[in-house]
Amino acid sequence: MSRVAIGNAHVALDVRFFASLLWMEVGRWGWARDSEHGRQVWLAPCKWLSLCELYLWQPITDSNSDTGEEIKEAVRGMIEEMGRPNIADSFPFLKMIDPQGIRKRNNIYFRKMLDLFDTIINQRSKLGAKSASGKDTDILDILIDLTENAEDKRVHEQLQKSTIGHLLLDIFGAGTETTSATLEWSMAELLKAPEAMSKAQAELEQVIGKGKKMKESDIPQLPYLQAIIKETLRLHPPAPLLVPRLAESDVEVCGYTIPKDAQVLINVWAIGRDPNVWENPDKFMPERFLKSNIDAGGRDFELIPFGAGRRICPGMLLANRILHLTLGSLLNSFDWKLEDGVEPDTLNMEDKYGLTLIMDQPLRAFPTATST
Ligand code: HEM
Repeated sequence: MSRVAIGNAHVALDVRFFASLLWMEVGRWGWARDSEHGRQVWLAPCKWLSLCELYLWQPITDSNSDTGEEIKEAVRGMIEEMGRPNIADSFPFLKMIDPQGIRKRNNIYFRKMLDLFDTIINQRSKLGAKSASGKDTDILDILIDLTENAEDKRVHEQLQKSTIGHLLLDIFGAGTETTSATLEWSMAELLKAPEAMSKAQAELEQVIGKGKKMKESDIPQLPYLQAIIKETLRLHPPAPLLVPRLAESDVEVCGYTIPKDAQVLINVWAIGRDPNVWENPDKFMPERFLKSNIDAGGRDFELIPFGAGRRICPGMLLANRILHLTLGSLLNSFDWKLEDGVEPDTLNMEDKYGLTLIMDQPLRAFPTATST
């Protein structure tokens, strides 16, 4: 890792980490067997667990272990508690009392996650610097190696083995549900808009070849796929209110005074649907991005799903790679349909908020043909 700033929990994820994506295969992402009909189905919770495996580079979903389910349960609980309206935010004197028990429950989830991570870190430490899988190094190897061998004294001061668990907690909390929710929304939007799905598949066929494996280097040549991801993030930003800020001093914005210590929420969801900015704001129209230079990197304030400025999401580059590679691979490898009895017009697109914005009813998408 080139940079690890523990103080504000920023994680800079470098090329070595991105290299781990190379082993990613479409077959590992989000599949389950539909017990009712005995066929394969693509489901959000499964791809979520695959993401956890990606970060730890370690199987956690094998049937003999409950670790995957335990991690998923703890992260979901944590995210729900963090998104729950807390009366103590409006009346700070209630913070000590924690009247809704939010802090208490969150502490239990945090502890559970840290205990699980401790076990994994200790196992890995014993195995030595190289990854348990015998493949290239992963983020956990790099962090362990830094605690043991970094020459820079500041790294030793800031990063100890006990801190790694907290870093992993940040990555899991911030990086899994956001990414899996975006993939789920993008698939749902495409299943509702078959012409957009066909356009994306045609682009993939032309650039990569039908059924062929997509590589990271293909992404720049796939403008329509990129437009789909931007359009999904515009309509369904996984962190719709970003992360709350606190005004450090009185400040005036557009004629309004924001007093010192006020909590500031940025409504990215509303910005993405503002009719003064977007034509047909509620319509899924990836084409709008083909003729515009707007990107989601934090410079164009109409579209800031990753935030902006100093606290912009440190996982943005990684997330972009995962999103394009996974969606592109799914579309290039299969044709898709909804569950029997569900029509594109009747697909439930209600959302559920708990710090991240996920589909209220998980999408069930079925491959209809393998394109080889
Ligand atoms: C679609 C995927 C993702 C979206 C939309 C997203 C969005 C965000 C947003 C909006 C923030 C707050 C930024 C702000 O308030 O200005 C954030 C913070 C963060 N993200 Fe992401 N994120 C995604 C994926 C990831 C991934 C894959 C990782 C790491 C593996 C990650 C790690 C983090 C961390 C550690 C923070 C906290 C930074 C801090 O405390 O300042 N995110 N993300």
